[in-house]
Amino acid sequence: MNGNQRTRRRVIHAMLATPVLAGLGTAMRAYGQDSDELITAADKALDVFDFERLARAKLPPAHFGYLATGVDGDATLKANAAGFSNYSLRVRRMVGVRNIDMSVNLFGTTWDSPIVIDPVGSQRAFHPDGELATARAAKSRKHLQILSTVSSTGVEDVTAARGAPIWYQLYPTDQWSVTHGLVRRAEAAGCPVLVLTVDLQGGSNRVTLARAIPRDSRDCTSCHTSSRTRLSGFITGKPMFDGIDISAVTDLTGLDMNWDYLKRLREIWPRKLVIKGIVTREDAELAVGHGVDGLIVSNHGGRAEDSGRAAIDSLAEVAAGIRGRVPVLVDGGFRRGTDIFKALALGANAVGIGRPYIWGLASFGQEGVEKVLDILRTELQTAMRQAGTRSIAEIKPSFVVDNRRG
Ligand SMILES: Cc1cc2nc3c(=O)[nH]c(=O)nc-3n(C[C@H](O)[C@H](O)[C@H](O)COP(=O)(O)O)c2cc1C
Repeated sequence: MNGNQRTRRRVIHAMLATPVLAGLGTAMRAYGQDSDELITAADKALDVFDFERLARAKLPPAHFGYLATGVDGDATLKANAAGFSNYSLRVRRMVGVRNIDMSVNLFGTTWDSPIVIDPVGSQRAFHPDGELATARAAKSRKHLQILSTVSSTGVEDVTAARGAPIWYQLYPTDQWSVTHGLVRRAEAAGCPVLVLTVDLQGGSNRVTLARAIPRDSRDCTSCHTSSRTRLSGFITGKPMFDGIDISAVTDLTGLDMNWDYLKRLREIWPRKLVIKGIVTREDAELAVGHGVDGLIVSNHGGRAEDSGRAAIDSLAEVAAGIRGRVPVLVDGGFRRGTDIFKALALGANAVGIGRPYIWGLASFGQEGVEKVLDILRTELQTAMRQAGTRSIAEIKPSFVVDNRRG
């Protein structure tokens, strides 16, 4: 909130405190757009931001800081959200829209919805059931789930809770023996797709998180070792590293990683390989040239570099370059069905969400994640109906306008 918004909010609150306007205040808040009330049950949520407010209130400061943080001045984080307003919907009328098919096919598997549960690390920091609650929600709502390397539950247990194969996200680390150990385990657990994250190679300066940590007065030593300043300290205790010697690990992606790395990975990973963190057309074309099976356009939810560039803008150029040769997924700032619709129109095959489902998880566990998925699915369905598009394939570039071009 900027200074003007704060002043406006203070004036409105003062007005609403007067008896004559108090009833109006209740009515306005009930409409929810400027609400600061906390929901008391998952089914009371009107949009995903109801869960954000509750998660902020419920979580310890350091854990909310971990979730909320961008990098540096949060320029990319803000751009991800603001980027959607650069595109408007260009809808059509008089199409019979009773039956809406939101299904998508990725690598031979059909999903009821194009909304994908992104890899988010350490989910027990948000709810005691962590990734298991997320997996149960993914199962009941039939969504694709991608598990983080730094999960707080191992891939076997999450796969069992999901009741179907999940995709595995890989931070390879700078030690090949560690990469090998992680990949072998994902393969044995039946993961059909390995998602190599490539957008944190240079490190990230998470200012919001750093500011939040000192505000947390709890004793955190039972979960966080005192060696956390070293990377091996960060991954110590993460179940995917059980039985793997991580003493030599110094960074998550390896400063030396380049396109040749994909060849090496191919030798030990026999299934589909997707690369996550591509933001330009040039890299998308190089990735396809190096044989990847799919791409995730992502700036790590504004947590990689502070480029100030919205994920939705990166998507537009990547999809134009790829021209359907491999599936293109995108994530970063998706909070409304209309955001998702815009990405599908710009060429995405599916859309990932990170923070929104974690807000749901922190608020009400599995039920919260389910409600977030329900809200976004319903909003997307409404957007598709209003636009006159009955299937994902019908959502073409002509359904959006880039307001900067007109
Ligand atoms: C708390 C948190 C942890 C994350 N952990 C991982 C991770 O372990 N691996 C990864 O590839 N991406 C990770 N991400 C990035 C997400 O997969 C995704 O790219 C991003 O959250 C999408 O943006 P959104 O949060 O605005 O929806 C994380 C994001 C957050 C917010």
